[in-house]
Amino acid sequence: MENTKILLVGSGAREHALADALIAGGAELYAYMQLLNPGIKKIAKKFAVGKADDTVAAVKFAKDNSVEIAMIGPEAPLAAGMADELEKAGIKCVGPAKKLAQLETSKGFTRQLTKKYGIEGCPDFRVFNSSNKGSSTPQFGERPNAQSGTSRFAPLSTLGEIEAYLKKLGEYVVKPDGLTGGKGVKVYGEHIHSVAEALDYCNEILQSHSAAVVEEKLEGEEFSLQTLTDGNGGFLHFPVVQDHKRAFYGDVGSNTGGMGSYSDSNFLLPFLTSEDVDAAKKITEKVAAAIKKELGTAYRGVMYGGFMKTASGIKLLEYNARFGDPEAMNVLPLLKTSFVDVCKATAEGKLSGLKVEFENKATVCKYVVPEGYPDNPKTGKIIVPSVEKDCIKALTYYAAVEEKEGGIYTTKSRAVAFVGVADTIQKAEAIAEEAAAKVQGQVFHRKDIGTHQLVQKRVEHVKQLGKLKPLYSPRNEPMRIAAFMSGTGSIVRKILEFQKRQPSLFKVEMIFTDTADENVCNARKIAEEHKVAYYRSDIKEYYKKRGCSDRKDMKIRQEYDAETAKLLKMHKVDAVALCGYMSIVTSPVIGNWLTVNVHPADLRTKDSRGQRLYAGCMGPECVKKAITNGDKEIRATTHIVNEKVDAGKLLLVSKAVKLDIGRSYSGEELEKIAHEYQQKLKEEGDWKVYPETIRMLAEGRFAADGKGTVYLDGKKIPEGQETT
Ligand code: AMP
Ligand code: GLY
Repeated sequence: MENTKILLVGSGAREHALADALIAGGAELYAYMQLLNPGIKKIAKKFAVGKADDTVAAVKFAKDNSVEIAMIGPEAPLAAGMADELEKAGIKCVGPAKKLAQLETSKGFTRQLTKKYGIEGCPDFRVFNSSNKGSSTPQFGERPNAQSGTSRFAPLSTLGEIEAYLKKLGEYVVKPDGLTGGKGVKVYGEHIHSVAEALDYCNEILQSHSAAVVEEKLEGEEFSLQTLTDGNGGFLHFPVVQDHKRAFYGDVGSNTGGMGSYSDSNFLLPFLTSEDVDAAKKITEKVAAAIKKELGTAYRGVMYGGFMKTASGIKLLEYNARFGDPEAMNVLPLLKTSFVDVCKATAEGKLSGLKVEFENKATVCKYVVPEGYPDNPKTGKIIVPSVEKDCIKALTYYAAVEEKEGGIYTTKSRAVAFVGVADTIQKAEAIAEEAAAKVQGQVFHRKDIGTHQLVQKRVEHVKQLGKLKPLYSPRNEPMRIAAFMSGTGSIVRKILEFQKRQPSLFKVEMIFTDTADENVCNARKIAEEHKVAYYRSDIKEYYKKRGCSDRKDMKIRQEYDAETAKLLKMHKVDAVALCGYMSIVTSPVIGNWLTVNVHPADLRTKDSRGQRLYAGCMGPECVKKAITNGDKEIRATTHIVNEKVDAGKLLLVSKAVKLDIGRSYSGEELEKIAHEYQQKLKEEGDWKVYPETIRMLAEGRFAADGKGTVYLDGKKIPEGQETT
């Protein structure tokens, strides 16, 4: 039988592995490459060098050589519509048409698709458009066109809407809608640290991309499931793999294209169960059916899903319309079935009729990359070890290198990958490591990938997921508190009195005020009396100095809080207690220190729209409002502070003070009675519940789960805990 003529597009290590698998499966290989890959060049019947997205050149090369099937490696030719052009020329393709490649090229599209078809594993998300701000009719279906401004994604929104959504999420991820070479995703806590920074980034995205996707930040371990689908209900799921994005040992440094990866002999990963992998497979199969229904065309090619195992199950991060690089190198060498048969069956819609087998082996792939990669790579000559001369046992795949004057030279990207295949991950690691360590030149690789220690770290991480984190973990010294105040400070005095009785539990380390006027604020006096460090930075002055009279300007507020944060750091503060502090506190403080407050009302009470009725209401105003509202009693509430006024999670609710109001009051009489009740509430409510809250915090009794729900002594208290 004649060998099948196959076109392979792409020139990286992934394509080198594809080329090897195709040749092993009986192909006659025609390679269209952007860079001349020395490994592919050696085994191809013929090759051409051209731009990755030059569909005309690639199709001509394919036609001139009468190839039967094409396998497209990278995303750029898919996004350029190479599969469409090859199909038009009568060449069947493993790789989706441009419209279908949206699965990778538009994160918004994929999120909308999973939502519309009710597919599980989708985090909370919203897609925000750059144009037509204010339009409210959501449509869905086609890739938005950034140039024409006729984006069809919705709901469209103002930055205000984005801000509200970011605040609702608390922890978020912001992604441009479009191809960004893996560099566009910014994660809260890693690349962005506040709503303001996230908004700036959204704004930047909306200038250059059709849309920004904002979604819930998930916590867990990532894995890759690469699946071939024939668009006809046939699926071939490859063994799952875990990649390592960070540049350096111990998962630190910049994100890269991937420094290495591993897979296990049972086709699971040490932190995954077969149910986990089945859940990911199910998601992929449902997405394949959904995209066919949505776009009316069959998807033929790779669906490489990036998944995460979280405390609440398997979640989908993204799809790529191609094999992973390095993940392809883990799975292709394990194929026992001819890869040519697999490609044919995929392209012809006949995958379900093909029995595919893999070797039960573990694999570890390690990439050797130029020194300085990815930020500032140095190029130069390298000497790559070989099976013949150096007796290495690893498979060798060339990536972005150049062969000249008989030598191999690095470029600015990953250079060469080594894959160990063995019965266990550890044995496979040793094989890959031995080869990677033998490369000579200005290069490095991650020695830790695939080691028992690193794999075990993943396992431990998964075990920790969903466990409660204490809001404060007691040490063998008192919890260190900073009190922030703007007024008389009666509550600070109560806390300091309480401290005297509980000296081993907590200590007010510093008092800070935003008010210079000592007729209004007693901060200095109290600090002197109790020998506590004292700081003052007048907020009105601060705004004035910056030529701004509007205290709502949160950028200035952030700068102010960043300066306050330096004091907190200096005093090694554990928690901030607001004690009649009349300013909004922003991320430099609340993002880094547990910040609590007491509010002179029952914050559990909601209005008809479900909003906290007493949020933003002060002192006697709260009592007046309670009287008007017909409340029978009043209480004080402690809560965690977030950027929105009185909106944070509740901690304790004080005992009730009965409102004995026999008749209706107005004017001066109402003022008087409100003041009386406010005083009573202070004595019975605020002054008791706040020190009590601080005591429980210091004892480590409050905790929160990943979603921020608060627990007291291990019991969920979403609406705070009433004290008895
Ligand atoms: P993506 O291109 O969507 O896979 O995102 C790139 C990387 O960003 C992923 O590999 C994750 O590490 C991270 N990431 C993406 N989405 C989320 C999310 N919702 N929660 C946490 N991390 C994420
Ligand atoms: N392994 C990362 C990628 O192929 O995108």
